[in-house]
Amino acid sequence: MVDTEQKDWTPFWKKRSYSLYALVKDSFSKKFAQLITENKSKGKVLEAGCGEGKILYHLKNSHHVFGLDYSWLACTKTKDLIDCVVNGDNFFLPFKSDVFDVVFNQGIIHTTSQPLEMLQEMLRVTKKNGIVLFSVPKKKSLFPLIGGFWPIKQKYYTQREFRELLSRLPYPSTMRNFWYGQLFIGIIKK
Ligand SMILES: C[S@@+](CC[C@H](N)C(=O)[O-])C[C@H]1O[C@@H](n2cnc3c(N)ncnc32)[C@H](O)[C@@H]1O
Repeated sequence: MVDTEQKDWTPFWKKRSYSLYALVKDSFSKKFAQLITENKSKGKVLEAGCGEGKILYHLKNSHHVFGLDYSWLACTKTKDLIDCVVNGDNFFLPFKSDVFDVVFNQGIIHTTSQPLEMLQEMLRVTKKNGIVLFSVPKKKSLFPLIGGFWPIKQKYYTQREFRELLSRLPYPSTMRNFWYGQLFIGIIKK
């Protein structure tokens, strides 16, 4: 697996219509926002790697939402939907420690060769009793089959690999299935 780099994602956002994901993105984003609300119904939320900001859009009436992405183009798209957007890198989040009630992302952790480091940085900016929530595609799912259409290199997780990733973090965590059993969700409580 090769780590993502900024240059990989800007063409993605320029031509996002070629993604199969674009077809289901609105209903997916709404369900993902519901999942966050079920775990924290209000508070300060950061999406670390917000893309177009569709999930944050569904949270903005209940939470104080912030988006961050290292693609400038993605930031400008998110800015059309919510007010607070920062151009930055998930490995060096430009925030003080312990400030957010929820830090989440979707579609990123499995594209980096340093998932633990990214999650640790997300945990750093999360308040005590706050949560970090993220998704990865399962190995036993449709994702490996359709992966050839997806322009970003990614890893598909077995249950064992996902549990192993969670077990390496210094906080309690739970895992669950999401999106018709296609994704694993990790929820880490700080
Ligand atoms: C799958 S997309 C997120 C989609 C988003 N949930 C939406 O509704 O549009 C992943 C995003 O993560 C961003 N990203 C990947 N690695 C990153 C990093 N290290 N720091 C910040 N953003 C990153 C990419 O630029 C991309 O916009």
